[in-house]
Amino acid sequence: MKKTWWKESVVYEIYPRSFCDSNGDGIGDLNGITGKLDYLSDLGINVIWLAPVYKSPNDDNGYDISDYRDIMDEFGTMEDYDHLLEEAHKRGIKIVMDLVANHTSDEHAWFVESRSSRDNDKRDYYIWRDPVDGKEPTNWGSCFGGSAWEWDEKTGQYYLHCFSRKQPDLNWDNPRVREEVFDLMRFWCEKGIDGFRMDVISMISKKPDFVDAPVDDGIYGNTSLEVSYGPHLHEYLKEMNQKVLARYDLMTVGECGGVTTEHAKKIANAEGTELGMVFQFEHVSVDGGPDGKWYKKPMPLPALKENLSKWQRELDGRAWNSLFFGNHDQPRIVSRIGDNSPISAKAAAVALYSMQGTPYLYQGEELGMTNYPFKGIEDYDDLECINAYHQIVEAGFRDPEELLEAIAYKSRDNARTPMQWSDEENAGFTTGTPWFHINPNYREINAKSQIYDPDSVYSFYKRYFALRTDSPWKNLLVYGKYQLLAPEDEAVFAYIRYADEQKLLVVCNLSAADRTFEVPESVQIDPSLSLLINPDESQLLISTYKDSRLSRTLLLRPWEAGIWAV
Ligand code: GLC
Ligand code: CA
Repeated sequence: MKKTWWKESVVYEIYPRSFCDSNGDGIGDLNGITGKLDYLSDLGINVIWLAPVYKSPNDDNGYDISDYRDIMDEFGTMEDYDHLLEEAHKRGIKIVMDLVANHTSDEHAWFVESRSSRDNDKRDYYIWRDPVDGKEPTNWGSCFGGSAWEWDEKTGQYYLHCFSRKQPDLNWDNPRVREEVFDLMRFWCEKGIDGFRMDVISMISKKPDFVDAPVDDGIYGNTSLEVSYGPHLHEYLKEMNQKVLARYDLMTVGECGGVTTEHAKKIANAEGTELGMVFQFEHVSVDGGPDGKWYKKPMPLPALKENLSKWQRELDGRAWNSLFFGNHDQPRIVSRIGDNSPISAKAAAVALYSMQGTPYLYQGEELGMTNYPFKGIEDYDDLECINAYHQIVEAGFRDPEELLEAIAYKSRDNARTPMQWSDEENAGFTTGTPWFHINPNYREINAKSQIYDPDSVYSFYKRYFALRTDSPWKNLLVYGKYQLLAPEDEAVFAYIRYADEQKLLVVCNLSAADRTFEVPESVQIDPSLSLLINPDESQLLISTYKDSRLSRTLLLRPWEAGIWAV
């Protein structure tokens, strides 16, 4: 496996709106981030993935961009950005920008022109279609509810928007659109940024036929199936690679909902002809229901392990994995894999980050920040869950109370409550009125109380990342091969990482009960390789308990998780 800096890095996602407010307007901003760089550097992360900071009317919190070469007013100025980049680089922290180029805002100059008339020069920058039988050209639904087609009265056609109606999809089949995107990427590369996270990049090549999709939520066709992994996806990514990416030293990661390992092996291929990594979502979907994510169910551990192991196995030596549970679209990991307790946050980190791939954490995860106690639908800000609620309730599909519980459990808004910096008013996030609810548990869960507490989640994350980025075990943890143990175990996630003569045993009790785990004497990898495990000659590298000891029959306390060199 070819070694690169981004395989050996830990990536920290910042959702700027909720990170830190520097000027008291209640909204996080760029100077707020700059002010926290020492905190991040102390934690030991290497890369910041910055969720969108470009000019945007904020229909989808910055994922609807109206100018890719400017900064959102609420977040500051381009000077503030340049300052952030410079200060981050001074501390050895790299910055990866969020490239949202499957769609723009409807307020972007390209779309304003495109919709101005049918013969406008930029008409074909977007996807316009005539009505079919007087209505929408297909049954496709938007990911945020309603139809994916919006009628434009003035020019008498529909435009496609896979997300909100204020996020029209760009037409990547138009070479001029691709050049525009490559150009704006160069603009940022020339500033010296270190990479791109590419928003829904799997959707840029639509299948050409535009036919109805199977209806699996009972109302609209499943658009994803028709617009993802279209015939030109790999071609466009290769073109982007040749024209932009290959000319700089960048980390790239494509957000790829519904990706198969086959596509992932191409997109994140080891030769680097497309992107560096993919973000796949199968493992955060195993606790979903028949028609999507709005269910409140415990994470079925055997299914989760099987899925993660499949990705480990299939990509090994061929492509590169991203290791994540949380991001700005997911509920809090400690409320989903864990039971909200600090120790469960630590155990989940050991289980996830000890696999092969690049670790990603989302702001607040290092503090064990939990889901928010949402009640009514009026408590939410995010259009995804608000629209879903109204659509499902109006259709009479679900009991509203039960649906609300599921939404409280899964809503993206759980990740978007402001960072809990201290036990002071508004959790130290702002001196003004925060744009969104602050989790009432900020008095117990906050950075200030954790930084100097050796037993805190923060200190554990810090020690853990040091092991992964700066220790004799680094190579093995980053590049070593993976083998799952005890696949059927309902509570214990255990595996081996190995390379040459070195072996690590990872055992995590992901439950609040005592468990027993039988450490195998040897693990047969293939006919020619069998790995011996001798607990008597083991060395503990890290554990969620101070006094963890390996033995053949291992008694695990609640959320006991450790790594042993064996
Ligand atoms: C991605 C983003 C999400 C956004 C959507 C539309 O999934 O992560 O936050 O709403 O794309 O841009
Ligand atoms: Ca602010």
